[in-house]
Amino acid sequence: MPVLTVKFPSQEVRYELKIEKGLLNHVSHEVKNVFTGAKIAIVTDETVYALYAKSIIKDLEAADYKVQCIVLPPGEQTKTFDSLPHIYSALADFGLTRSDLIIALGGGVIGDITGFAASSYLRGISFVQIPTTLLAQVDSSVGGKVGVDLPEGKNLVGAFYHPLLVLIDPLVLETLTDSAFADGMAEVIKYGCIKDLNLFHRLTELSSRKEVMQHIDWIIETCCTIKQVIVQTDEKDLGERMILNFGHTLGHAIEAYYQYEKYTHGQGVAIGMVAISRIAESKQMTTDGTTDQLITLLQQHRLPIALEDLEDYPKLLPYIKKDKKNSGGSLSVIVLVDVGRATLHQTTLSFFDSLDTGGTA
Ligand code: NAD
Ligand code: GLY
Repeated sequence: MPVLTVKFPSQEVRYELKIEKGLLNHVSHEVKNVFTGAKIAIVTDETVYALYAKSIIKDLEAADYKVQCIVLPPGEQTKTFDSLPHIYSALADFGLTRSDLIIALGGGVIGDITGFAASSYLRGISFVQIPTTLLAQVDSSVGGKVGVDLPEGKNLVGAFYHPLLVLIDPLVLETLTDSAFADGMAEVIKYGCIKDLNLFHRLTELSSRKEVMQHIDWIIETCCTIKQVIVQTDEKDLGERMILNFGHTLGHAIEAYYQYEKYTHGQGVAIGMVAISRIAESKQMTTDGTTDQLITLLQQHRLPIALEDLEDYPKLLPYIKKDKKNSGGSLSVIVLVDVGRATLHQTTLSFFDSLDTGGTA
């Protein structure tokens, strides 16, 4: 089984990401290797609960753990500050102590909010990530960014808080909707764009979900390795790590502007990558033709490439202003030099002047 170890020299933090088909059948065995306490709270959403939680609970109880499951509604609307009191109360009612454990079982929404609850409950309690969407398996479960959204914007409250262990079972991807699978592909394509020309080219050769699944172990391991290397060198997102947010400033703005109802994270990122790439290409910062290659690949993997309503683009600007990469009037944007190479560009909001048509003008 591929095992990647994420290590941070500055801290005593080190954890493994294990990737294996069928890993969900051995959760208690894997947990035993990293956790010696008695109680485990699983946080999941209704969809994942119905599909996977029961057998995991059975397995953990058979290994003598006391288990409680906290089930939240599915979707981005759950990842808000207002959902936290319910989680904290459920953890307290279960009598969870600092020597116990929380498991985040679900997609990026569950991973992010559970990780934040774990970082703050009793000033920090250990947690394990079991990501069940492609997006969470290749991105959100790795690197320790946890948090929640505010009405004012996406991920505005959060922490860097690493899991004890990440268990990735690619078999669970079989039950994703096509749309949720495509969301994950947006992040996979992002990795190709920012760091890995070979990955990008391999993805152009895969035209169906079935074909992607035939190479899924390799795809997940490739993406996780890229993320592992980047976060190890820049844990707190002060430099190199920012390139992981290619397309995300606009993506987050799109999600928030439509109140997390019209576009998912993956769709926002896809549209954001195209718009930023177009703008950068028009400024000769990105090699000509890069955006067209990106558009072709996104469409091949059933992702949107522009907002349905072009008139909405300027309305994203107030949300871009609130981005965490915006400080003191200066904004860091991630642009592609060409496919497989990204760079950080220090600019101002005026960079987005041609956004009114999604950078298509
Ligand atoms: P999600 O967690 O909402 O999951 C999408 C849908 O898939 C949900 O309805 C869920 O119930 C369902 N689902 C999950 N696993 C399933 C399975 N195996 N079978 C069937 N259905 C399943 O969304 P997501 O796309 O996983 O995550 C998006 C979130 O991740 C966003 O909030 C984004 O900000 C965050 N994110 C965080 C990081 C990070 O570094 N922390 C990185 C990227 C994205
Ligand atoms: N998803 C961006 C990061 O983890 O930094």
